[in-house]
Amino acid sequence: MKIALYPGSFDPVTYGHLDVIRRASKLFDKLVVGVSNNPKKTPSFTLDERQDMIRRVVAAEGITNVEIGSYTSLLVDYAAQVGANVIVRGLRAVSDFEYEFQMSLANHQLHPDIETIFFNTQERNLYISSSLVKEIASHNGDITRFVPPGIVEDIQNRFKTL
Ligand code: PNS
Repeated sequence: MKIALYPGSFDPVTYGHLDVIRRASKLFDKLVVGVSNNPKKTPSFTLDERQDMIRRVVAAEGITNVEIGSYTSLLVDYAAQVGANVIVRGLRAVSDFEYEFQMSLANHQLHPDIETIFFNTQERNLYISSSLVKEIASHNGDITRFVPPGIVEDIQNRFKTL
């Protein structure tokens, strides 16, 4: 069984992430979406909320071979734990490349049996990021272009300003 891990903060999940989930889920028997619980970051949504939002958008898409999990360990250790020998990441622009390249090399050193593959983002999602979504929502802007309908309200409520 071919298992891949798609890790990230998903704070919150966006159409860009969903596009990677959709495409990767077609290539592997099982795709584990791993939500990173990084103590150095202060996310806007709890681990449970982030996982729940992913679960809902994946279900709404009718994708059935995706599992949602979370980890506090090193990424490669979590990949090994869930039986994944492929790590999937999305690449939006050249600006993402250096960090992603460095991380994939380091991960390969740490665990030579685990490969990282990249999905280039589709043009319409090129500029979407979780940070951008939060910035727009915090100014009462329209985020419907960036995130699936099922989680728009969750985000608006979190950033609602009077
Ligand atoms: O969506 P993000 O915030 O870019 O994801 C970053 C991610 C998931 C790679 C990172 O938070 C993570 O997995 N951290 C765990 C520590 C780790 O393994 N880092 C990479 C070692 S080179």
